[in-house]
Amino acid sequence: MAEIIIVRDPAEAGAIAADEIVRLISANPRTVLGLATGSTPLPVYEALRPRVAGLDVSQVRGFALDEYVGLDPAHPESYRSVISREVVEPLGLDPTLVRVPDGSLDGIEHAGDDYERVITEAGGVDLQILGIGTDGHIGFNEPGSSFASLTRVKTLTEQTREDNARFFDSVDDVPRHCITQGLGTIMRARHLVLLAFGEGKAEAVAGAVEGAVSASLPGSAIQLHPHATVLVDEAAASRLAHADYYRYAYANKPAWQGL
Ligand code: F6R
Repeated sequence: MAEIIIVRDPAEAGAIAADEIVRLISANPRTVLGLATGSTPLPVYEALRPRVAGLDVSQVRGFALDEYVGLDPAHPESYRSVISREVVEPLGLDPTLVRVPDGSLDGIEHAGDDYERVITEAGGVDLQILGIGTDGHIGFNEPGSSFASLTRVKTLTEQTREDNARFFDSVDDVPRHCITQGLGTIMRARHLVLLAFGEGKAEAVAGAVEGAVSASLPGSAIQLHPHATVLVDEAAASRLAHADYYRYAYANKPAWQGL
C-alpha cells in the first residue's frame, strides 16, 4: 500500500516532496520529473525554488500530465503556460527538456502516441507528482478510465469542468476535452507522490487509498503501485479509517527508508 503522511499544512507537504526531488537531482542530474498542474502541486514548486539554488538543473527533464485540447497554448491557463510560469521559469529548467502533451487539434490523433514515445525515450519518469480530482481522477483519467490506458484524448466530466472553472472566466470557457497521460503511463513512473489538501478532497482520498481498486475511482490505481507516497493535510485525511496507524507508522519510520 501507499505510505500515507498526514502533514500540518500544504507547505510541509511541499517541503517533503521538494526534499526528495532535490535528493534525486543531486544523485542524477538527468532526473525525469512528472509534473502535475492545478492548485495542489504549487507548494512543491514553491518549496523547490530556494532548494534548487546552487543545484545543476540544466539536464532535468519534465513531462506534464495533461493539457486541454483546443485551447490556445498561449492562453494563461493552458497547461503549457502554467508549467512554464510555475515550474520552468522559477526553477530555471531548460524549456526544451520540459514537455507538455500537444493539445492542438491539428494532429491530435497521434499526439498521445508521440507523447508516450518521448517519455520512453527519456527513460521513463523517476518521480511523478499527482493531485486528485474531487471525482477521483488522477491526470485527467476520469471515472471509468482503463488501468492500462496510455496518453490519449479524454472527455472531462462536468464536475471537473466546474471544479476548474475557477481558472477561467466561466465554466463555458473550460474545454470539454483534454489529452492526458493514461493510468498505465502514470503507473510506469518509478515513484508516485500524490498530494491532496482540504475537506473537498477527503472522499476521493479515502476512496483512492482505502476503497476498492476500481476504474470507477481512478486514483485507486495507486494501491497497485510498488512505491507510492500520499501527502495529505488533516482535512483531506479526515475520512481515512486508518489515520491513526498512518501517523504511528510515520512517527516510527526507520531513518534509512527515505521517502
Ligand atoms: C492536473 C491534473 C489533475 C489535478 C486535479 C486536482 O495536471 O492532472 O488531476 O491534479 O484535477 O486539481 P487541483 O489541484 O487544482 O485541485
